[in-house]
Amino acid sequence: MLGNFTYKNATKLYFGEDSLNYLNEELPKYGKNVVLIYGGGSIKKNGVYDAVMKILADNGKDVVEDPGVMPNPTSDKLRDGVKIAREHKADLLLAVGGGSCCDYAKAVSVSVNCDEDPWEKYYVRFEEPACEIVPVGCILTMAGTGSEMNAGAVITDRATKQKTGHVFGEEVMPKFSILNPRFTMSLPKRQMVAGIYDIFNHICEQYFSGEDDNVSDDLSEALMKSVIRNSLVAIEDPEDYEARSNIMWAATWALNTLISRGKTTDWMVHMLGQAAGGYTDATHGMTLAAVSLPYYKYILPYGLQKFKRFAVEVWGICPDGKTDEELANAGLAAMEAWMKKLGVTLSLSELGVTEDMIEGIADATFILEGGYKVLTRNEVVKILKESI
Ligand code: NZQ
Ligand code: ZN
Repeated sequence: MLGNFTYKNATKLYFGEDSLNYLNEELPKYGKNVVLIYGGGSIKKNGVYDAVMKILADNGKDVVEDPGVMPNPTSDKLRDGVKIAREHKADLLLAVGGGSCCDYAKAVSVSVNCDEDPWEKYYVRFEEPACEIVPVGCILTMAGTGSEMNAGAVITDRATKQKTGHVFGEEVMPKFSILNPRFTMSLPKRQMVAGIYDIFNHICEQYFSGEDDNVSDDLSEALMKSVIRNSLVAIEDPEDYEARSNIMWAATWALNTLISRGKTTDWMVHMLGQAAGGYTDATHGMTLAAVSLPYYKYILPYGLQKFKRFAVEVWGICPDGKTDEELANAGLAAMEAWMKKLGVTLSLSELGVTEDMIEGIADATFILEGGYKVLTRNEVVKILKESI
């Protein structure tokens, strides 16, 4: 049964090869001052920067650049970004890049008109914005996080080694996002597969919880099958537009809040991965891949029915002649084989985690209660040790 819920998605989305043209329709809605937010320079190599700058100039915008947003954006960078946006009296924050740029733009947007320290306010005390929020637009160059159509913003505080997400309200969602699958084609393969696993895991996080028959889980299965099928094409031929466009759209649907409506969700893989990411600065999708199998193997007995369903509906495994446990485990074995084909990282040690970090990572892991098993701290340690 579906629980009660409200649903609104506040982001206008433009998708496809011509989608950047729609920036011309969006820009007149905002004042003259634009802060252009981007990362380490990939957009200068693949031509996206030049194309965006031309449209900004054609629309008479006064642009200040805020480059250098790193993967896993930091609280120090956030404070600098707030200063830049304040000094420029930003009317629009335009993020061009992956989830890190989109997340960072959202975190800046709620902090420009607020005197308090953004890390303390939003990531330590988890307060909601009480100030005017500067509008955000995104031009996405990497499929994975879903940040283009949600209100999440993950920030890392290097001093305390904490990587924390804040899911804001709909007023913080990008006002518009532009998704051209061609822009993702310059991604190195390692980033592409990390993004693909991130998408898949977002769906798992919302699927592995609850036993009810609900439309959200049916949608999740369809999305998972699409991600698996298209990922196998994309790793053979990264230039395959059909595969890359399906992956990009699936990423958006995986985390634009739709498939969590009316049901509980888990999110413990993200809590474990994020805590490891705070210690190592490792690629987000890879941290998830490294902890997933030990975590799912551990919780399988508590969510046996759903793991059986996962095996049959997502991986097409025939239940004949198998016990419940054999069937459920066969689903995870199929997932593991797919992860190996993708080439994602299957151990935390490959990401720089050492035994002596385990206690600290366990302390930094938020324990959530929506999944099949509410973990104890000892269980968190056990799973982390198995992920090494
Ligand atoms: O910085 P540049 O030079 O642009 O290079 C980036 C970066 O090195 C590169 N890249 C992106 N598009 C490219 C490209 N390189 C060549 N061609 C392109 N077209 O890829 C690298 C990774 O980019 P990043 O934005 O960091 O990746 P991703 O999209 O995976 O974002 C990761 C961040 O999002 C957070 C993660 O924790 C992490 O901080 N998340 C945000 C979520 C949300 N808002 O809901 C949920 C997620 O679970 C996740 O936690
Ligand atoms: Zn994620």
